[in-house]
Amino acid sequence: MKKFAIALSILATLSTPALAAGDAEAGKTKAVICSACHGVDGNSMIDMYPKIAGQHQAYLNKQLHDLRKAAHTGGAEGRNDPMMSPMAAALSDQDIDDLAAYFASQKHNENAATDVPPLGEQLYKGGDPVRGITACIACHGPTGQGNEAAGFPALASQHANYIKIQLNKFHSATRNNDLNGMMQDVAKKLTAEDMEALSKYISSIK
Ligand code: HEC
Ligand code: HEC
Repeated sequence: MKKFAIALSILATLSTPALAAGDAEAGKTKAVICSACHGVDGNSMIDMYPKIAGQHQAYLNKQLHDLRKAAHTGGAEGRNDPMMSPMAAALSDQDIDDLAAYFASQKHNENAATDVPPLGEQLYKGGDPVRGITACIACHGPTGQGNEAAGFPALASQHANYIKIQLNKFHSATRNNDLNGMMQDVAKKLTAEDMEALSKYISSIK
């Protein structure tokens, strides 16, 4: 019996994938409490709440761990938000894996077309060498798809208002859960006009 248990635990170690597996079906059931703000399938209707449908599983996983950490440390560590951190406080590791798997398996919808200031696309694709602003495209990709392995989130079709809120948070270091401060480094150089233009451009990427 003991040998069997050891063999099983070795097998479990060997078969653990690099990314947490998660069960999307179980996640769907657990996602009921999230739907009030993020929508049933992760396409939130209210533009201050992020769309999380189709976001990378590893990114969703990291954010939920960071949000939970903030709830457990009184905001000293992780990602602190008065509305969302408490929502993550009681999630288990398994809940996080399942919820991330579920929302990642959904498809994000597109936003209605609006006027996009040219400055947004210009900064996104070219940055501003004079002001030392790295082009967003370098990490978030030409179509805003990000890079899951590198931890760069997808941005395409996100709500402009949510993007603007996050850029302001990185700008003021209110959100500082980015590895090596790489997002804060970029955001601290952005003006309010830059952030407005970037948010509108990014939300228009399909
Ligand atoms: C009362 C509204 C509300 C509820 C309910 C809620 N959230 Fe959130 N969620 C938010 C807000 C607001 C943010 C943005 C936080 C910030 O500004 O840092 C957020 C952010 C997130 C993020 C980060 C997204 C990103 O793009 O970085 C994830 C992941 C997330 N929520 C998952 C969940 C899950 C899973 C549940 C259910 C267990 C849930 N949320 C329930 C309001 C809510
Ligand atoms: C060096 C790589 C890098 C560059 C350049 C970069 N980002 Fe990011 N960005 C990141 C990382 C990493 C994160 C996620 C941090 C985390 O783990 O929470 C992020 C997160 C974000 C988020 C939050 C997404 C969400 O769902 O909450 C927004 C918005 C964003 N970036 C916009 C931009 C814009 C606009 C630019 C260009 C001005 C830019 N980024 C340039 C690496 C980068």
